[in-house]
Amino acid sequence: MRARVSVIGAGMVGGNCAQRLAERGHSDVVLLDIVEGLAQGKALDILESLPVVGSDADVVGTSSYDDVAGSDIVVVTSGIARKPGMSREDLVLTNMRIISDVCENVARVAPQSIVIVVTNPLDAMVQLALHTTGFARERVIGQSGILDTARLKAFIAMELGVSVTSVSANILGGHGNSMVALPRLATVGGVPLSELLPPERIDALVQRAVNGGAEIVGLLKTGSAYCAPSAAAVSMVDSIVLDRKDVLPCAVQLKGEYGMTDVVVGVPVKLGAAGVEQVYELALLEDEMAALQRSADAVRQTVAFMGFQ
Ligand code: APR
Repeated sequence: MRARVSVIGAGMVGGNCAQRLAERGHSDVVLLDIVEGLAQGKALDILESLPVVGSDADVVGTSSYDDVAGSDIVVVTSGIARKPGMSREDLVLTNMRIISDVCENVARVAPQSIVIVVTNPLDAMVQLALHTTGFARERVIGQSGILDTARLKAFIAMELGVSVTSVSANILGGHGNSMVALPRLATVGGVPLSELLPPERIDALVQRAVNGGAEIVGLLKTGSAYCAPSAAAVSMVDSIVLDRKDVLPCAVQLKGEYGMTDVVVGVPVKLGAAGVEQVYELALLEDEMAALQRSADAVRQTVAFMGFQ
């Protein structure tokens, strides 16, 4: 039997998630948006593409949470992106209202679901989703590190002229400027990156990855990245639906790991049918640990501004 995956928000990220999921064929897909007709139109368009790609997934577009009922996984992409003239605080408060509303509904109609949050500011929104749904941390997971590391892997592969599948890289921390890249642990086919590139080139690639979202916004001008974010979120769904137990960098609430409690940051986790099945603690150097603490402090500040706990 196919799993049931709901995608909340039928904008650029949500629409792309729905398309990628439907093409996989392992899940039936529900796409929900408050804008009447948007989810219905995108879902129908996706459904009509499936005979071409050979998938029998069902795809439903809706504005009603009745259709989300019984979902195994809910991917939350609803929210607004920052517009010119809008302060970061305005963005946080607007997305906070949206995520609260969405998560109340998800907890009501799909109380057993695993929630994957994509909306920014990511780590604070995961914390809010935990608070609103009341779900255990194993079932509320943020998409962040897969995207950030994918950007770094793409740049390393381009620089060295190697397959992206040969590159391994780690990024921890909050999904923002304070993210903590660990190039010391990056490898290419098992060879340490530090043996293949000089430190200044590695720094430049890391900086490009850290600024990856802004680089895309600068080019698109009227929107933000959606291809890589949707690919990252769907890879989390794959690992859960197929119980693949991939070890992926995801935003989860720490409970003593890395010496921190109750803050959400990106760390490597095992994703399987139960959601987060294990949190991995890397042995960090002193400066790496200090950077992770600073990143967690930035997340705590946003959460404090939002005024819940
Ligand atoms: N319930 C359901 N959908 C909602 C709600 C709500 N309460 N509020 C807003 N939406 C919908 C909007 O109608 C819109 O279609 O969320 C969608 C967001 O889509 P886009 O504006 O295209 O934004 P997108 O680029 O998809 O980014 C969504 O993902 O990567 C992050 O930073 C990004 O926070 C942003 C989110």
